[in-house]
Amino acid sequence: MIRHIIAVIATLLALWAMYYLYTLDKAVHKLDEIHRVVKASEIKVHLKKPTVVHEVTTAKENKQAAEEQLKAKQKELDKKLASLRNKAGNIAAFKVSKLYKQNCSSCHGVNGRGIIGPNLVGKSKEYILEQLHEFKTGKRKNYVMYGLLQKMDEDKLNKLSTEISTFKEKWDKYNNN
Ligand code: HEC
Repeated sequence: MIRHIIAVIATLLALWAMYYLYTLDKAVHKLDEIHRVVKASEIKVHLKKPTVVHEVTTAKENKQAAEEQLKAKQKELDKKLASLRNKAGNIAAFKVSKLYKQNCSSCHGVNGRGIIGPNLVGKSKEYILEQLHEFKTGKRKNYVMYGLLQKMDEDKLNKLSTEISTFKEKWDKYNNN
């Protein structure tokens, strides 16, 4: 009889333990669920906040960058304008000989910077004279320069080469004033 009672109690205890375990499992499950929900909500918050902040800062940054770019452009333009004004004044002040003006400036520019003909500024007297000789003799072939130089004697070629070789110095001096 006692055995039977013990067996019943044992079974009941076992059943209770199983039930207890079951409820524990449920609780754990619930905890997990809560954890998941919290995590999910955290993710949502995280996702929202940074994107908004990011957009705001990039919009600000873009605006700033655009403003800076504008300022830089304005500065560049001002600089260009100033240097143009400077140059316009300098060109007026840039005196050349009649010989150069009448024969050469139409193509090489009143300041030697070149129009149809190449820039002559910064080239040495020796180089220029040599080119003039070569154009004149036809060794360096250029119809215009050839025709033009036929009527010029050595003295003129020399004078022109000397004058043109001083253009750079003159130009620099005017530009620094
Ligand atoms: C009608 C236009 C024209 C006139 C006027 C003219 N030139 Fe030229 N000149 C040219 C051209 C174009 C060239 C380039 C020729 C070539 O590279 O073959 C040139 C080239 C030169 C070169 C060689 C430049 C180099 O870098 O090698 C010199 C120096 C030169 N000319 C000096 C003069 C002188 C000095 C006069 C005035 C006496 C003069 N030119 C008049 C058109 C002209």
